[in-house]
Amino acid sequence: CRVRNYKFNVVMTNTTRLCKSKPTVTVNGRFPGPTIVAREDDTVTVKVVNHVKYNVSIHWHGVRQLRTGWADGPAYITQCPIQPGGVYIYNFTLTGQRGTLWWHAHVLWLRATVHGAIVILPKIGVPYPFPKPNKEVVLVLGEWWKSDTEAVINQAQKLGQAPNISDAYTINGNPGPVANCLANGGLKLHVDQGKTYMLRIVNAALNEELFLRIANHKLKVVEVDAVYVKPFTTDTILIAPGQTTNAIITTTQKPGNYLVAVSPFMDVPIAVNNITATASLRYSGVLTTSSTVTKLVAPPPQNSTPVANSFINSLKSLNSPTYPAKVPLTIDHSLFFTIGLGINPCKTCVNGSRVVADINNITFVMPTTALLQAHYFNISGVFTDDFPSTPLMPYNYTGIQPKNLATNKGTKLYRLPFNSTVQLVLQDTGMITPESHPIHLHGFNFFVVGRGIGNYNPKKDPKHFNLVDPVERNTVGVPTGGWTAIRFRADNPGVWFMHCHLEVHTTWGLKMAFVVDNGNGPLESVIPPPSDLPKC
Ligand code: C2O
Repeated sequence: CRVRNYKFNVVMTNTTRLCKSKPTVTVNGRFPGPTIVAREDDTVTVKVVNHVKYNVSIHWHGVRQLRTGWADGPAYITQCPIQPGGVYIYNFTLTGQRGTLWWHAHVLWLRATVHGAIVILPKIGVPYPFPKPNKEVVLVLGEWWKSDTEAVINQAQKLGQAPNISDAYTINGNPGPVANCLANGGLKLHVDQGKTYMLRIVNAALNEELFLRIANHKLKVVEVDAVYVKPFTTDTILIAPGQTTNAIITTTQKPGNYLVAVSPFMDVPIAVNNITATASLRYSGVLTTSSTVTKLVAPPPQNSTPVANSFINSLKSLNSPTYPAKVPLTIDHSLFFTIGLGINPCKTCVNGSRVVADINNITFVMPTTALLQAHYFNISGVFTDDFPSTPLMPYNYTGIQPKNLATNKGTKLYRLPFNSTVQLVLQDTGMITPESHPIHLHGFNFFVVGRGIGNYNPKKDPKHFNLVDPVERNTVGVPTGGWTAIRFRADNPGVWFMHCHLEVHTTWGLKMAFVVDNGNGPLESVIPPPSDLPKC
């Protein structure tokens, strides 16, 4: 195994999109930022130097960080942020992981432009469990606001209002030929006829689940969130913020241009949004004149629940002898968390109230000391470990909602003994509005054993759980007005954040954390913190 060293300079860069320039926080001047390439079991170090006026921290989304929570990155959860002028070296090992993951800033709105892909190749000599593609291409999907992103997120943070929707989606930073004012037009993916290409797709958008389609080409999905799946073929990929998907296309069409369309999925009519980012798949041998007609593809309508469901229902773990699905079959902790929105009083807000979000009616309050430090050094008064395992006041979650939409506040964690097994049912609520929530758990992969619409039924629903080959991932969409059940083993000591990966909901408080105690074995405790760990 090798050590791969990277240097990330976090800098202000004037970036032009949609015919307008704005100062943008970037890594090394690029949007999206650089791709990290490594192999399974390699160690990665990234020296992050903060040249901007904001606090910065970087999260390696989906990297398990076994015992190395100090390198996980969420500000005030596992570390204090890197202050302006500060430096921190993230140091972690990609133990037993291979596939596509990504990295992003983990302090408020910064991840809008501070993100990039992580490509983890299998160990040398270890093949993919599918025919090796001729080429691999990283596609980072993002979103762009013409105005200052900070102002957009502040609108949500300080005033508790829904932030303006973005002005464009982007594919590797490019919104497409129509919307773009860059001289090169839209992004072109150059391909040869008769070859296979593996697309490593990352959804780095702040607030939108996305569909991806390519004219005349089917997509064979082989991996999600850096875990192999049973390959299946689809016209449309659904990808939530935080998720990654590897899909293979075969270029069997006539030489030509084929549209790649990226469009939003939202099945509640909160905000109608038909913005589509486009790129083109360009076969070699096609003249690059503007007269070359591009074969079009219609993106699915924004509220295409059946398209989304059919994609989600196709996802199964590969579960082969080499890559078994190690689903916990017994449960030590059975948890039921409601996730949704609420309205709290707010003196400084318009109307004297604001939208908040919660888990089990608790709006998470960010601490001012990092939770992992508080846990490791036994600093009291930073958090409590009394996060409720079920809602304190049950109600009809997806039916008529209670009149009082106020939530409680707290920095509450749920404590898990090392190696205990957890079943967690995530129930969407209709408070204000039901909505799909992509929930991300740091430090673990989990198995998605069940999913349904309406209220979870603890007597009936578990009978239909898939405990054989459920998809394993780190971010899962809880359906609008429905529930998702996940299982995982708490085999990673530390403090691990769990939150909605829609930035607006994280900001509003749809987050909590697990504290996993050390075990007794020599390799069952959090390693000591590095000496350059930032101070608050
Ligand atoms: Cu990708 Cu806590 O985030």
